[in-house]
Amino acid sequence: MSKLKIDFGNMFTSQIGEYGLTEGDMAPLKEDVARVHKGMNEKKSEMVWRSLPFVQDEIVKDMKETAKKINEKFDAFVVLGIGGSALGSKALFSGLKHLHYNELSRKKRGGARFYVIDNVDPDRMNALFDVIDVKNTCFHVITKSGATVETMSQFMIILNMLKDAIGKDYKDNIVMTTDKEKGTLKKIVDEHGFKSYIVPDGVGGRFSVLCPVGLLSAAVLNIDIEALLKGAGDMHQKCENENIEENPAYMYALTHCAAMKKGVNISVLMPYADALLDTAEWYAQLWAESLGKIVDNKGNTVHFGQTPVRALGVTDQHSQVQLYREGPFDKIICFIKVENYNSDVKIDKPDMVMYDANYIPGKSMGELINFELTGTRYAVTKSGKMNMIITLDKVDAYNIGALFMLFEMATAAAGEFLDINAFDQPAVETGKQATFALMGRDGYEDMAKELKKEVQSECVYTL
Ligand code: PA5
Repeated sequence: MSKLKIDFGNMFTSQIGEYGLTEGDMAPLKEDVARVHKGMNEKKSEMVWRSLPFVQDEIVKDMKETAKKINEKFDAFVVLGIGGSALGSKALFSGLKHLHYNELSRKKRGGARFYVIDNVDPDRMNALFDVIDVKNTCFHVITKSGATVETMSQFMIILNMLKDAIGKDYKDNIVMTTDKEKGTLKKIVDEHGFKSYIVPDGVGGRFSVLCPVGLLSAAVLNIDIEALLKGAGDMHQKCENENIEENPAYMYALTHCAAMKKGVNISVLMPYADALLDTAEWYAQLWAESLGKIVDNKGNTVHFGQTPVRALGVTDQHSQVQLYREGPFDKIICFIKVENYNSDVKIDKPDMVMYDANYIPGKSMGELINFELTGTRYAVTKSGKMNMIITLDKVDAYNIGALFMLFEMATAAAGEFLDINAFDQPAVETGKQATFALMGRDGYEDMAKELKKEVQSECVYTL
């Protein structure tokens, strides 16, 4: 049995009828595969994230030693970061650890409790302080640019608390991951000698889960890093093939781009496993920030992009599927099926008359969830809606590593098909600069004046 299988069949008219992809939709992009492949090869040395599965033996050894010390010494481990500096850790945590990990006993966990704080919501921050003791907590501050306001604010709050609570040894409670030479955090690392790791050049935030940004979390959580990287490495090898019939990343990119050109502007990732919802969250950032672009590489205004949606099977069958079946033909639904859950729950026949629910006993929840997936996929297909399915034999480190690399390679390839830069995020900058201005940062005075101008809305309701 294969570990991971991807079936694109229900993307095409042959399976779903009128609203599927036709040969005519596919042909121009298929003709483009050679160009896309050339671009992927030529830019391979810039896409350093592709090499991460193969080049990190030393760093993994170091992180494991650090993680061992962290788990021996601390009761909690908290990731402070945002966007690509946080979402990979979240996906690894919920994907590969017990779904109520922090409520387990220390013995069952085998390590520190684990939190990712990826917002500056004051209530969230204070809620964290209600459940951790900063003295017994290790904080991993992650920012590639070394200057992100959210992360730097969190860092300053923690720094003050640790200095007050611990005094001169406060640095033992902090690990940092940032650029090797640029940015404010790097200056702080150098000046004060914090334990630190590097985000390598050519590894952008949303492509950084397989470097120390995500791997230190994995090490602290005792996740099998070798298996994670092996899955990613094997998938990378598969996705280097020029032949689109053998390359699932190219096929994912091509089908999504062909659909996008027909106005299919939504990409739903719908795992049937609670453990994979944060992987869908991680994918959402990757797909949105990489492909949502106003200009192509030639400077043409294009407004490309496909809005990613994370949905959860079966929960969202009772929330979204009505829309997915009967609503507009504007989305691709990518189901993720898990053949074998890590555990199962049998539904025995109760000693009570169950009337019409009598068909349930004798089955298990694992069977039920997969029957529901098969049923929903059948229904969506009958409605003529584009869908595809990724089947995992189970949710394990190997398969999660493979999924990360599949989606990263698909995103990069989609960038090539669309001829856009998938690795920048210029549109995030304006909001960042406006925040700097409002926070009173030097050099942003004109913007601050502009922002303070009262704009009279003509449509306001109050209570
Ligand atoms: O993918 C990206 O580049 C972004 O989402 C960043 O990860 C995010 O903005 C955080 O940036 P930094 O790691 O520089 O703090």
